[in-house]
Amino acid sequence: MALRRIRFTLRYSVVTYVLCFSAVVMAYDIFDPTANITITWDVVSWTPDGYVAVVKMNNYQMYRPIMTPGWTLGWTWAKKEIIWSILGAQAIDQGDCKDLPSNIPHSCEKNPRIIDMQPGVPYNQQFLNCCKGGFVSSMGQDPANSVSAFQLSVGNSGNTYKTVGLPKNFSLLGPNQGYTCSPISIVPSSVSLSSGGRRKNRALMSWQLVCRYSQFLASEIPTCCVSMSSFYNSDITPCLSCACGCRNNENCVTNNSPISRVVGSTSPHTEGNAPLKRCTHHMCPVRVHWHVKRNYKMYWHVRITITNFNFNFNYTKWTLVAQHPNLNNIAKVDDFNYKPLLLFEPISKLMRTSMSSPRNLPDDMKQTHLSTSSWFLNADDTGMFYGVEELDNDHLLEAASVHSEMILQKNRTTFSLNRGWAFPHKVYFNGDECIMPLPVSYPSLPNSVLPLLYVGRMAIIIQVLIATFHQFI
Ligand SMILES: *[C@@H]1O[C@H](CO)[C@@H](O)[C@H](O)[C@H]1NC(C)=O
Ligand SMILES: *[C@@H]1O[C@H](CO)[C@@H](O)[C@H](O)[C@H]1NC(C)=O
Ligand SMILES: *[C@@H]1O[C@H](CO)[C@@H](O)[C@H](O)[C@H]1NC(C)=O
Repeated sequence: MALRRIRFTLRYSVVTYVLCFSAVVMAYDIFDPTANITITWDVVSWTPDGYVAVVKMNNYQMYRPIMTPGWTLGWTWAKKEIIWSILGAQAIDQGDCKDLPSNIPHSCEKNPRIIDMQPGVPYNQQFLNCCKGGFVSSMGQDPANSVSAFQLSVGNSGNTYKTVGLPKNFSLLGPNQGYTCSPISIVPSSVSLSSGGRRKNRALMSWQLVCRYSQFLASEIPTCCVSMSSFYNSDITPCLSCACGCRNNENCVTNNSPISRVVGSTSPHTEGNAPLKRCTHHMCPVRVHWHVKRNYKMYWHVRITITNFNFNFNYTKWTLVAQHPNLNNIAKVDDFNYKPLLLFEPISKLMRTSMSSPRNLPDDMKQTHLSTSSWFLNADDTGMFYGVEELDNDHLLEAASVHSEMILQKNRTTFSLNRGWAFPHKVYFNGDECIMPLPVSYPSLPNSVLPLLYVGRMAIIIQVLIATFHQFI
């Protein structure tokens, strides 16, 4: 009975987590409030029956890349437009082109869906910033590669400012369902530089739309979990059980099953490219382990290990975001790049001043930010980690792990090994929030068992209350 209740409790803690965080994430990215993917259509010339447009996708997300198998961009034509040709991308479907027998278009679909080309396509099919298999880096990691572009020639459409119809009903898979796109609208014409920056070119017409991410739309179950350990306690705090689903509900591969031997030796292609995970008690494809390694007078050490439990998926150009009060004082990070996320500073400063006089806050800020202000104040103690190309750890390979050690300089007034202070508040992998263990299970100091147990008991009581509540509805 007791065991069942605990299991029930754990499961509901995930449910409450999902409910809680979705409310926040739906609104915006906590550490990256302006995060979006902006798609711009620049009409660069009119043709006898339409126009040529350059379509550009800018990933203005600090730490969320578009992973392989890459993006798919879809829309609905306003009239009976066709795509004569595309450079740097292709339509998935040619559609029904029987009305145009003489000159066969690239696609006659009413709802075309476009994907990027793979690297190494012939030069005459390429376009600037194309052909990366749909992969787009996050802006924080690699701004130069945070854009993807293609050029398309459209027919059967208007060919003047007045008669052209704007495409509508945009959808972006990136590659999952997480993005929601705004309607497209006419914006001031884009200006680009040519001739070594000495000449300005202006598009004939520019249209723009913005797509924003919600982790909850992307996946109902989380995709990553956090485990912990410390030098002062021999117990390892594992990931929460069923953090990303339960073992009996999902396909997975045990360590010694025949499939894993096959996978280990030859190509791991499975039917339909379904992800093939190692069976774990948490069932997360990715685990982030935070180990408090040493404690010196002025400094303390943390070792971060990221493990990929997929047998058939590599995380290219992964990112990790952590929030910890001491990240404002990092002395050294080995093997990973580190970049503080300071974007929020003006707002967190505003929050600080507003704490004493809340009436100074603009109305919209009161509504959106006030409820979250307690951790908001620490938002600038947040940073992103990513791999180093020269060390070859910017790819987190299938069934492998990458790790880093960092040295943090202590602030003697705040530093503590007590009450789980040395562990992060939040962790994101590739922009998706990771499930933290319950506070009751954090590594505790031998002499701090009582207070921690108390905190933990409170957590359990709350979880049980929620679980009981759900049982009756
Ligand atoms: C919008 O696009 C989807 C496919 O992405 C399509 O199924 C749907 O019919 C479109 N809606 C309209 C109103 O055209
Ligand atoms: C992942 O990377 C390794 C090493 O580069 C490669 O052998 C393997 O085929 C890749 N897996 C996938 C699914 O692309
Ligand atoms: C240490 O933390 C306190 C409280 O947050 C702060 O007032 C102080 O400026 C910090 N000292 C240093 C050296 O960062």
